[in-house]
Amino acid sequence: MKFFLDTANVDEIKRINELGLVDGVTTNPTIIAKEGRDFEEVIKEICSLVDGPVSAEVTGSQAEQMITEAEVLAKWARNVVVKIPMTEQGLKAVNTLSKKRIKTNVTLVFTVAQGLMAAKAGATYISPFLGRLDDIGTDSMALIKNLRKVLDNYGYKAEIISASVRGLEHVEKVAELGADIATIPGNLFPKLWSHPLTDKGIEQFEKDWATFSNR
Ligand code: G3P
Repeated sequence: MKFFLDTANVDEIKRINELGLVDGVTTNPTIIAKEGRDFEEVIKEICSLVDGPVSAEVTGSQAEQMITEAEVLAKWARNVVVKIPMTEQGLKAVNTLSKKRIKTNVTLVFTVAQGLMAAKAGATYISPFLGRLDDIGTDSMALIKNLRKVLDNYGYKAEIISASVRGLEHVEKVAELGADIATIPGNLFPKLWSHPLTDKGIEQFEKDWATFSNR
């Protein structure tokens, strides 16, 4: 399974990259705005830190605007992936960009039908948003399970990025269901390798060792 970091914070990326756990990075306008840095500068820096795909989102709403933006973004680094919203205009842009061999990540996907349209239009990645579906009482895990099945039924190569990941349970469950990728917020990542019983166990071992070695 691949893990992306859902952040534009370079300190978080450097820390987790040192553990060999980062296969890519995803950003969106909210994540970029949080850093208060120049968009181009931060995307180029992230692309230099991480070998894998780095998603940078377009802001235009019309296909022509998205295509023009995408062509600029794709020149910033070899590993830029252009994030495109799941709209009719977005699909039009994805179709053109796939023919130009520019990689795309279709974002804000909430149904199997949307995922299927994105795959058919030529998306490289499809991003279903889990937490935001849970927020409205819809079963986000059913979406991952069914989208996995549908893409496999027809042999689509598009990879599923589980996005809007809010907790450990999301990560464990989408791994079981066969999502290709989970993109994890920087503050959630450490929870994937932590457990209070691990900490308690270490504390106990240290105490027992100190008692034994002081004998
Ligand atoms: O990758 C998109 C995702 O970050 C959105 O997450 O928590 O804002 O729903 P959230």
